[in-house]
Amino acid sequence: MPTTAKKPVVKASKNNRQQRATTTGQKTQKNTAEDNGSKLEEFFHGELKDIYWAEKHLLKVLPKMSKAATAQELKAAFNDHLKVTEGHVKRLEEVFNALGYKPQAKKCEAMAGITKEGDDIISKTEKGTSTRDVGLIFAGQKVEHYEIATYGSLTQLAKTLGHDDVAQILNSTLQEEKEADESLTGIAESSVNQKADQE
Ligand SMILES: [Fe+2]
Repeated sequence: MPTTAKKPVVKASKNNRQQRATTTGQKTQKNTAEDNGSKLEEFFHGELKDIYWAEKHLLKVLPKMSKAATAQELKAAFNDHLKVTEGHVKRLEEVFNALGYKPQAKKCEAMAGITKEGDDIISKTEKGTSTRDVGLIFAGQKVEHYEIATYGSLTQLAKTLGHDDVAQILNSTLQEEKEADESLTGIAESSVNQKADQE
């Protein structure tokens, strides 16, 4: 029997590397998720900044959409989604913090374009018409579909990178975006589209 046991070789998993702290003298500094040097982690971080900009931008856009809407239920849907969106911004801040990042926004050209299209719809349709409501639902659903695509991809990527808690947070938002999309479909089908057809 050997007197000295062989030291077990513990290979740091990708996750361990991400969560490992750097000790400098007395100070223990927490590494950010990107410190492991992964290109995928860097890409994930970039996409978080993009959707953070988009959500914050929506905080300014949704009140305009609510104001432009005629049907009370459509106004209410945009107002409700504004409150939900405030929660999405907070969740993203939680995600940044969990990964050791400062919350940072980077202009999302896609969301800027979709909401610009919404502005065009408002300016090209008449105030107080259901046709304008139809247009607002179009714009709102384009926003939701962009967000569903983004949060769906981010959730999967978070899982791949081993950020399971972050994946859960992102998935909660994904479900709320889907609910918002379904509620707009409901409003279009139950009343707005038919009213617009009679204008
Ligand atoms: Fe959102």
